[in-house]
Amino acid sequence: MVSAVARPYIDASVPVLREHGLTITRTFYSNMFAEHPELTNLFNMGNQASGVQQQSLASAVFAYAANIDNAAALGPVVSRIVHKHVSVGIKAEHYPIVGRHLLGAIKEVLGDAATPPLISAWDEAYCELALALISAEKEMYAQAGIEPGQLQNMRVIDICDESADIKAFVLEAMPGEAAPPFKPGQYVSVSVNFENGPTQLRQYSLSDAPTGRTLRISVKREQGSALNPAGQVSNWLHDNVVVGSVVRVTHPFGDFTPDAESTAPIVLLSAGVGITPMISVLNRISQVHPNRQVVFAHAARSTAHYAHRPDIARAQSVMPNLHVVNFLENLTSDDISTDYPGRMDISKLPKWPLDEANVYLCGPVEFMQEQWRSLIEMGVPPTRLHREVFGPELLNYLR
Ligand SMILES: Cc1cc2nc3c(=O)[nH]c(=O)nc-3n(C[C@H](O)[C@H](O)[C@H](O)COP(=O)(O)OP(=O)(O)OC[C@H]3O[C@@H](n4cnc5c(N)ncnc54)[C@H](O)[C@@H]3O)c2cc1C
Ligand code: HEM
Repeated sequence: MVSAVARPYIDASVPVLREHGLTITRTFYSNMFAEHPELTNLFNMGNQASGVQQQSLASAVFAYAANIDNAAALGPVVSRIVHKHVSVGIKAEHYPIVGRHLLGAIKEVLGDAATPPLISAWDEAYCELALALISAEKEMYAQAGIEPGQLQNMRVIDICDESADIKAFVLEAMPGEAAPPFKPGQYVSVSVNFENGPTQLRQYSLSDAPTGRTLRISVKREQGSALNPAGQVSNWLHDNVVVGSVVRVTHPFGDFTPDAESTAPIVLLSAGVGITPMISVLNRISQVHPNRQVVFAHAARSTAHYAHRPDIARAQSVMPNLHVVNFLENLTSDDISTDYPGRMDISKLPKWPLDEANVYLCGPVEFMQEQWRSLIEMGVPPTRLHREVFGPELLNYLR
């Protein structure tokens, strides 16, 4: 907790910092990357270019300070940051660099309003958060038995076109090595070293149950449009990786870990490529508790865009209490009669015991917001709702 001296300065300045939030964070990143170009290898430069990351790191610091006495709100935020940080190999020695540039950006943007006591209050708040993150990250590296930034070479042994724009890559551990253990729902970061360019890391949820020998990721090609360039890493993976290629991945991390080992009813709701962690969970449940009551609902643009149907069919063949409900935006007469047209509508799902089942969501942000609202209206307790965001968490809800 920040000191009684710092507290009033933090409280008074949070609204001002929020108002100037984007300018501060842009200044922060641009100054930091100018002084430490090597850090661009850690950051997702696609997120930087599209602006989503700018809102994330610094706004987390502001949100933290504003909610400093609200441990319930902060717990999940800190946990997500820690998992993301260890997945990209953040080290303790990076923190002073970020802290210096963040405080520098506050001073630069606020000018005379950034008085010495205000800066010292923010210094204190940043240090407190940094120490908490450093300690949690140190523990996670130790638990995983890895050094920060450690990568494992894995050979691609199979590639499958799962849908019109999703390819699954099966990666096998090198001779004498094992695939890292993971919980269904977790992700690895894939490291791509572009020729004459930067290294970039991207997270991909593991899309099969743990096997001990292999990992599977399923990657959607980010096509790009007239306004946005095509995604760097996903296109590179689609266009360059062949059976026999070696790819480099981090240890699996992530705090979105639906309990696949329990026997309680469970609800898995996904849209688009958000199906990947759900398939890992489903495949694991089909191995350990095939009689478990599972509602699995998925929304896709069309049958051609619906990935991993063979996994679902396999699960259906051994799981008598699995209820699969599909929503297809472009439903044709060839689609099976149990599919619904349009976007996901939870009123179409079979009923489940609201107080017993956890509900897991993964898909585009608007999809999750819409479903989250509907699920709350339906009476699902918020503590039973969990979601995975395939990008930086923008923390808009933390005010
Ligand atoms: C926890 C987690 C799990 C994930 N799991 C999966 C998964 O299982 N499968 C999967 O496919 N993806 C997954 N993702 C998403 C994945 O990590 C990548 O974000 C995705 O593949 C896009 O990466 P890219 O390099 O192809 O695109 P990027 O190059 O990073 O581009 C991303 C977006 O930014 C836009 N952009 C880039 N440059 C600019 C610019 N100059 N101006 C404006 N816009 C720009 C692009 O058009 C694109 O829309 C996951 C993400 C997270 C965080
Ligand atoms: C108190 C300090 C810090 C806070 C509050 C913080 C906060 C965050 C947040 C909120 C995210 C997004 C998590 C998500 O995906 O939802 C993030 C990601 C990230 N952070 Fe930090 N961070 C801090 C320090 C650092 C430091 C010291 C570094 C090292 C340079 C760093 C590098 C990164 C990187 C590389 C990502 C992933 C970005 C991406 O994929 O675009 N952070 N951080």
